[in-house]
Amino acid sequence: MCGIVAYVGDRKAFPILVNGLKRLEYRGYDSSGVALAQNGSIALYKKQGMVKAMEDHALLNDTSGTTGIAHTRWATHGQPSDENAHPHLSNSGNLVLVHNGIIENYQSLKDLLKSEGFVFHSETDTEVLVNFIQYVQDKEQCKLRKAVRLALTQVVGAYAICIYDKDKPEEIVVAKMGSPLVIGLGKDEKFIGSDATPFLEYTKEAIYLEDGEMASIIAGEELDIRLIKTDGTVAPVIHKLQMDLESIEKGGYDYFMMKEIYEQPRAIYDTFRGRLLPEQGMIKMSGMEEYADKFRNADRIIMTACGTSWHSALVAEYLFEEFARIPVEVEYGSEFRYRNPVIRKNDIVIAISQSGETADTLAAIKMAKSAGAMVFGICNVAGSSIARETHAGAYTHAGPEIGVASTKAFTSQVTILTMMALELGKIRGEFSTSEYRALLNELNNIPKKIEKVLEKKELIEQISALYKDATNFLYLGRGVNFPIALEGALKLKEISYIHAEGYPAAEMKHGPIALIDENMPVVVVAPNNGHYEKLVSNVQEVKAREGKVIAIVTEGDKELLDSSDHVIEIPETLEALTPLLTVIPLQLLSYYIAVMRGCDVDRPRNLAKSVTVE
Ligand code: M6R
Repeated sequence: MCGIVAYVGDRKAFPILVNGLKRLEYRGYDSSGVALAQNGSIALYKKQGMVKAMEDHALLNDTSGTTGIAHTRWATHGQPSDENAHPHLSNSGNLVLVHNGIIENYQSLKDLLKSEGFVFHSETDTEVLVNFIQYVQDKEQCKLRKAVRLALTQVVGAYAICIYDKDKPEEIVVAKMGSPLVIGLGKDEKFIGSDATPFLEYTKEAIYLEDGEMASIIAGEELDIRLIKTDGTVAPVIHKLQMDLESIEKGGYDYFMMKEIYEQPRAIYDTFRGRLLPEQGMIKMSGMEEYADKFRNADRIIMTACGTSWHSALVAEYLFEEFARIPVEVEYGSEFRYRNPVIRKNDIVIAISQSGETADTLAAIKMAKSAGAMVFGICNVAGSSIARETHAGAYTHAGPEIGVASTKAFTSQVTILTMMALELGKIRGEFSTSEYRALLNELNNIPKKIEKVLEKKELIEQISALYKDATNFLYLGRGVNFPIALEGALKLKEISYIHAEGYPAAEMKHGPIALIDENMPVVVVAPNNGHYEKLVSNVQEVKAREGKVIAIVTEGDKELLDSSDHVIEIPETLEALTPLLTVIPLQLLSYYIAVMRGCDVDRPRNLAKSVTVE
């Protein structure tokens, strides 16, 4: 978590840094700060709250510097406050640093520094790091780059850092281990970001620093990239950025979340593009082709992910077992990495992550690789850590997802996983050609059908107004739509702060039914295929206890129309593809309820888009 931006060049750094921070607020937004090199000193402006608060405060002062580093924070060590906000100064007042990550051995370093007379003004691990670098520099009497390198060889943890010396502000030193860092290359200027969005309008050329690398960045000079461990030089690999500015702006919507909900038909087309070929009756996924033998002969698939991505893995579990008849296990990254799981050479691990930076998923991948498994990554962010750490993979191509609540990334992941399940079923000879083709054709129709669900916007808004003050919600689903019940509940709780639980509908009678009374809204995901009749009975059970039922049903449904308080219709589709439609009303329901409760939908409290701490 946390976002970093830095600039060195001829322009005024402040507007570039502040705009960059605003684009990175999805990574954390409890406080922010900038340090500008001006008039031989460091101008430091920090404020608790959103970037705007810091910007207003800084603009009352001098912001003319042309070198600067900046940070937007998601608190780990120490609560959100002006003091704990980054950048942090060293005791000498010469070094200033921003950091994304966690220094695990900060307490022992802090004890050492205290015994050497250092004092601390914040509770952060970052202030320890900047002082440790100063300590090493004083001891070794060396240049900043060397001091950073030597200090980092003694640091345990994750970091992306930018640091400069007030007496040599033309050079910013950066380093990376576990947290992302991208360097943008301008003509006589350079940019640094946790991702490339802060500098998209200035350059399309970028270098993604790898773990264990550091660089010395000077405006008009070649980059000097080194290995932290050995000081060996690294040849830079320059990437051409594909993203454009429009895709990271709100485009007339009040919130990114709504824009992203509406982008889903297009996002799914982009996920299909060049891969789903219904006229030719085939799916083409190069990442799978490369490992076709592995996929054909795999004994088991293990899927690992967190949050919403974990829900897409749960949907995929049904599809892979149904279409390819291969056993699938779905694991939270955080649990998988800390168990001693049985992983065999013939297992394939599929890791799913929108950001490609989730620390627990990344650690699970590393563990699976060291156990000899082939790891296939499904990520949205190109060039992300997970994309680079996996043997092969597929990008979802959903476009940047900025709202903290994941929407289009989820449906794109389910789309990719559906294509993979179909392809695997074909490779393993589990399909008749007609069945396979029918699924391909219907998958191709899904974006149009999502458009039809989006037309239900007004109805969903009206239903939201009736339940916005509820304190609890229950979500029920069965089969492939049980994960959709989980996803609906997660969406509601994360953006509206209403307590919500997702359950397999049949489990209701084993406990949750005790919660049902006239104040409990129950969202039932009940398309007309799969376990429809069973769900009708579940709805009766809820109504018998005076619960309020909001049912997601297939167009033309009569039974649930009579027995539910509200129905939201989705178009008819094949059972396996229903999650791509049933999830849409649930996204809209949580969106409207959160807006009506006055919540900041894109930046829910305590959360961040990219969870780079474990
Ligand atoms: O970037 P990832 O997909 O790895 O992120 C995983 C979760 O942190 C994420 O899905 C989270 O649960 C979302 N905020 C849910 O909307």
